[in-house]
Amino acid sequence: MASQRAEATPGQAEKYLAIREATRALAAPLSAEDCTVQSMPDASPVKWHLAHTTWFFETFVLEPHCPAYRAFDPAYRVLFNSYYNAIGDKHPRPERGLLSRPGLEEVLAYRQHVDEAMLAWLDVAPLAALPAAVTDLIELGLNHEQQHQELILTDLKHLLSRHPQRPAYQKQWPLTQVLARDARWIPFAEGLREIGHDGRGFCFDNEMPRHRVWLDAYQIASHPVTHGDFIAFIDDGGYRRPELWLSAGWDAVADRGWQAPAYWTQRDGQWHAFTLHGEVPVDPNAPVCHVSFFEADAFARWAKARLPTEAEWEIAVGGVPRSGNFLESGALHPLAPRVAGTDGMLAQAFGDVWEWTRSDYGPYPGFQPAIGAVGEYNGKFMCAQYVLRGGSCATPASHIRATYRNFFPPDARWQFSGLRLARDA
Ligand SMILES: [Fe+2]
Repeated sequence: MASQRAEATPGQAEKYLAIREATRALAAPLSAEDCTVQSMPDASPVKWHLAHTTWFFETFVLEPHCPAYRAFDPAYRVLFNSYYNAIGDKHPRPERGLLSRPGLEEVLAYRQHVDEAMLAWLDVAPLAALPAAVTDLIELGLNHEQQHQELILTDLKHLLSRHPQRPAYQKQWPLTQVLARDARWIPFAEGLREIGHDGRGFCFDNEMPRHRVWLDAYQIASHPVTHGDFIAFIDDGGYRRPELWLSAGWDAVADRGWQAPAYWTQRDGQWHAFTLHGEVPVDPNAPVCHVSFFEADAFARWAKARLPTEAEWEIAVGGVPRSGNFLESGALHPLAPRVAGTDGMLAQAFGDVWEWTRSDYGPYPGFQPAIGAVGEYNGKFMCAQYVLRGGSCATPASHIRATYRNFFPPDARWQFSGLRLARDA
C-alpha cells in the first residue's frame, strides 16, 4: 500500500494507459491457447493475469469509489480474485487453467471496459480532486499491474518449457557481447544503519517503517554469481554433497531430482538453458538464475561464503544507480556485464536477477498493514519465505528501488532468481 498520498499530476492518465498497454503488449504475440493453459499450481495463465489486474481496479477503485460504474460481469468477482478473503470467494489457484471461459477476446473486452471507465471517471474527477485514499489505490493498482507483468513472463516461460518443442516467446539471440567480470570483495564497516522506505513517493507497506539495524563489518561481492561459477559447483559434486545443504534443501534435491538450475539440460558436455528465446548454450559470464534459496545457500557454503542479509544488501547498494537490464531492454534474460563495476560499487545490483538474501520475510519493527482488503496484499505472507532484492530482467525499470522486498518460498525456482555472495569481514 502507498506510504502516503501519491502526487496527483497531469500525467497520471498517461501513466495509467502506458502501464496497462505494456501488459497488453506482452500478450500480443500469443495465441488464445497460449494464454489459457496453466503449467503448474504456482503459475497462472496469461489470460488470468490480464483479467486479474483488471479486477484489481474494478474491485478496489471503481466499485467502491465511482458510483456510476457498472460491473462488466459480476461472476468475475470470484473468478479473478487471487487471495483477498475480505472480498469473498475465489476460484482455486491450481484450477485457473480450467477457465476456458471467458475467452481471451472477452477478457480483452473486460480490460477495455475498465480502462474506459477509469479514464472517463478520472476525466470527470481529476486526481487532484480525489481523496488521498483513492489516488493511493490507483497507484497501488499500477504497481500491482507491473508485478504481474513480470509474472506473465516467468509463468509463460515455465509453460513454454513444458512443450516438447520448447518454443520461443521471441527470437532475439545472441543478446550481447560476452564480457568476463572481475569479481572482488567490497568491504563495509560496522555500524548502526537505517533501512526501509522513508515515505517519500510510493512504496509497498512491507518496506515500512524505516528503522535502525546494527551491522557488523562485512564484505559483499562486486558481481552476482555467474553460470560459470555455478558450473564449478556442479562439477565439484555440489548437488551430491549433503554437508553443503540445509536439511529441507537436501530433501528437495532428493525429492525433485535437482542436478542443475531450472531449465538446464546437458548435451555433449555442454550446458544449455531454456530461455524466452528458446534453448541456448549457457553463457558462463552471465548471472546464474532460476536457482532456489536452497541452491543459493548451498552454493554459498561451498564457496566458503554466505548470502547477505537484506539489510547488508540494502546498505551496500546505497548510491548505486538504478540502471540495469530490465524488462524494457527486451533481453528477457540476464546478461553478462557490459561494463566492469566501478571501484567500490556493486555491479548489476539492479536488474538481471533477483538476489536471494539470508533474511526471512517478516515485518519490520512497527509494521502496520494497510487498512481494508488491500491490507492482505503483503502482510499475511510473512511466514516461511525469504527476501529477494534488486529486480530482474523481467521487472519494469520504474518498478524497482533499493528498499523493494520481493519474497518467495525457499524451493521456488521459476522466477529469475540468482545470488550474490557475502562474508564476515
Ligand atoms: Fe495480484
